[in-house]
Amino acid sequence: MKKVYLLSLLIAIILASCLLLLFPFNNLSSPDRAIRVKIDVTDDGIPYYFVKYHGTTVIDTSYLGFKFSSDTKAFSGFEITDRGYSLQRDEPWEMPWGEQRTVEDDYNGMKVVLRETEEPFRTIKLEFKAYNDGIGFRYILPEQEGLRDLIILDENTEFNLKEDNEVWWIPGDWDIYEHLYSHTKLSEIDALKFQVLSGLAQTYIPYNAVNTPVTMKTKDGYYLSFHEANLTDYPGMTLKVDTIKLKLTSELVGNSNDIKGFIKTPFKTPWRTIQIADKAGDLIKSKMILNLNEPAKFDVSWFKPTKYMGIWWDMHIGTKSWDYASGRHGATTEYAKKYIDFCAENGIGALLVEGWNTGWEHWFGDFDREGIFDFVTPYPDYDLKEVVAYGKSKGVEIIMHHETSAAPRTYAEQMDTAYALMNELGISTVKTGYVGKIIPKGEYHHGQWMVNQYRLALTKAAAANIAINAHEPIKDTGIRRTYPNAISREGMRGQEFNAWSPDGGNPPNHLPTVAFTRMLAGPFDFTPGIFNIKLKPYKPNNQINTTLAQQLALYVVIYSPVQMVPDLIENYEGQPAFQFIRDVGVDWDETRVLDGEVGEFVTIVRKERDTDNWFLGSITNEDQRRININCDFLNKGKKYTATIYSDAKDAHWDKNPTDYQIDTVEVYHRSDISLNLAPGGGCAISFFPSD
Ligand code: NOJ
Ligand code: CA
Repeated sequence: MKKVYLLSLLIAIILASCLLLLFPFNNLSSPDRAIRVKIDVTDDGIPYYFVKYHGTTVIDTSYLGFKFSSDTKAFSGFEITDRGYSLQRDEPWEMPWGEQRTVEDDYNGMKVVLRETEEPFRTIKLEFKAYNDGIGFRYILPEQEGLRDLIILDENTEFNLKEDNEVWWIPGDWDIYEHLYSHTKLSEIDALKFQVLSGLAQTYIPYNAVNTPVTMKTKDGYYLSFHEANLTDYPGMTLKVDTIKLKLTSELVGNSNDIKGFIKTPFKTPWRTIQIADKAGDLIKSKMILNLNEPAKFDVSWFKPTKYMGIWWDMHIGTKSWDYASGRHGATTEYAKKYIDFCAENGIGALLVEGWNTGWEHWFGDFDREGIFDFVTPYPDYDLKEVVAYGKSKGVEIIMHHETSAAPRTYAEQMDTAYALMNELGISTVKTGYVGKIIPKGEYHHGQWMVNQYRLALTKAAAANIAINAHEPIKDTGIRRTYPNAISREGMRGQEFNAWSPDGGNPPNHLPTVAFTRMLAGPFDFTPGIFNIKLKPYKPNNQINTTLAQQLALYVVIYSPVQMVPDLIENYEGQPAFQFIRDVGVDWDETRVLDGEVGEFVTIVRKERDTDNWFLGSITNEDQRRININCDFLNKGKKYTATIYSDAKDAHWDKNPTDYQIDTVEVYHRSDISLNLAPGGGCAISFFPSD
C-alpha cells in the first residue's frame, strides 16, 4: 500500500515538474493556452510583461509606465500587492449590423495591483485579458491622494520585438492616416521621410513613429498586429520605433504645448492590443478589438446598412464643384433627382449630396475657417426639402453632409440645430469631414481634444438617432460596439486619391495591404466601384490602379455597412458587370477569410443576413495569380447559381483594365472554382440558391 502511495506521489511530482517545464510561467494564458503572458516587476519595481505564442517569445520583456508632470521620480519602486484572476466563457453577443451575426467573447483575465513602496504610496492597476486571438491590457488609475488631476507628459508602454520583423506601416502622423503603406524590416522604418513626401491638407509627423494598426510577420511566420481599443477621453497612440533595439514605445499624440493629455482619476486608459495569429487571414477574423469595448449603450434598429450613390465623384474628377460661385455647382435639385431616379431603379438605398450648403467658397483656407459653414442653409439652386421628399417618394434616403473644415468648435455650436434639421427631414445618416489644420491652432486631429470632439458628435448624434460616417476621423478602436451609430469612417487613403493625387494614386498592392492593416480597426468608407478606370476624358494624368473586376471584388473584401456606388451614372449604364453591384449584400451573417498574404492577395466570402446568398471577393496586387476556391462554405444539400465576374485572359490593371468576363455555373458545397486574377485584378462571385 505504502509503495503504491509513494509511486503515485512520485508520478505526481514528475508530472508537476513536466508541467512546470512545459509552462515555465502560468500567470495568464489564452483559453486555448497558445498565448502566455507574464506580468511582473523588476528588482527596481518597474512593471513589465512578456508574451509567448506556442512557446516562442513574440514580445520580449517590455516595460510599462507613465510620466506625469507632477512626478519627481521615475516610474519605479512598485511592488505587486495582489493579482486577481478572472475567466469569461459567455454566450456570444449579437452585432446589430456587421461582418457577422454573433461574436464570441471568451478570455482569461488578470488584474495586477501595483503599490509604490515609498511615499506617496500610489496605487496603479494593470488589467490584462488573454483571448485566443491576442491580448489586451490597460492601466487603471484609481482616485487617491497624489493621483487626482494629472497632466500626462508621456505614456511609456513598450512592445519589445527583439527580432527584425517584417512590418507594414504608415507614419505616426498626428493629423491624418491618408498615407500609403510601406513594407520594410522593423530596423528600416523611416517615418520621417514622409514629412517631405506628403503634400496633404494636414500632416504632422514629429517622430520616427508608426500609426496603428501596424501589422508584422515574425521570422517564425506568425502575424502580429498592434492597435488600441476603446479610445475614450485620451490621446491617440502612435508607436515610436527603436530601429536598433527593435522595440516600439507608445508615443501619444500631443498638442503644441508638449502636453499629451489631461486625466482625472478614477481613469482607465484605452486597451493596448496585440493580435496574434498563425495565418494572416486570422487577423481579419479577430474580433478582439470589439470585445474590449463596452456593450451597446442604445438600440440602433433605426439604422439599415445600405449601398449609396453620391454627388461626389464629380467633384473629385473636376466635372463639378462643391461651391456655387464656380458655375459648376454639383448639388442642384435637378442633378440630385437624376441620381435618385437611378438609385431607385437599381435598388440603391441612399444618396449623398456634398456641396449643398453655403460656405464652400472658403472651406479650404489657413486659419480663417471658423463660422463659414452653418449646416442648415442650402445654396439657392438646391431645394433641400424637395430633394428629400422626392427621394422618399422613390424609397431613396438622402445622406446629409457636414464638412466641418476642421473647425470643430463651429460644428459643436451648430450640432443641435443641424441634427434637429435632419430629424425634421427624416434623414438618419450624416457623412462628416474634417479637412485642414485643426482650429484652434496647436491641436491635432488625433490628440485628446479632437478625440473628445469626435465623441461629442457621436453622442449628440446618437441622442438624435443619427448615424455617422466620419472622414478625416480619429481611427476606429472598436467604438462601434458601444456606439453602434458609428457606422463607418475613412481614416485611410481612399479611392479619391486615384482621382487627384499627384503621386499616381493608390498602387495595386494598396488594398491587399489595407485588408490586413487599416481594416483590422473596423469598417471603412473606401468607395469602391469606379468603372471608368482611366478617368477619361477628365483626368489624363490619373487613373484607378486596378482592373474593373477588382472594383467589384472590393464590395466583399472591404467591410462597411455603407458601401458607395461612386461613379457617374453614364459609366454604369450598359455595363453587364453592374449587376454584381446591384446584387451584392451589405450586412452579413458570417464572414470567412479563405486565404491571403499581407500586401499580396486576399479572398473573403460573406453570407448575407436574412438570405441564403453568399458573395466572394478576391483581389491581388500587381502579380497575376490563379486561386482555387473550395465551395465548402455553401449550405450542404443546396444548389447555387454562381455568377463569376472575373478578369479576362489579357486583363491588366494598367494595359487592359476594363476587360472582364461573366460566367454562370451551377455549384454546391463540394464544387471547386478556379479563379484567374490578372495583375492588379480581382474576381467577384454571387451565389444564389437555385431552387
Ligand atoms: C474629404 C473627404 O474624404 C471627401 O470624401 C470629401 O468629398 C471632401 N473631404 C469634402 O468634404
Ligand atoms: Ca479624405
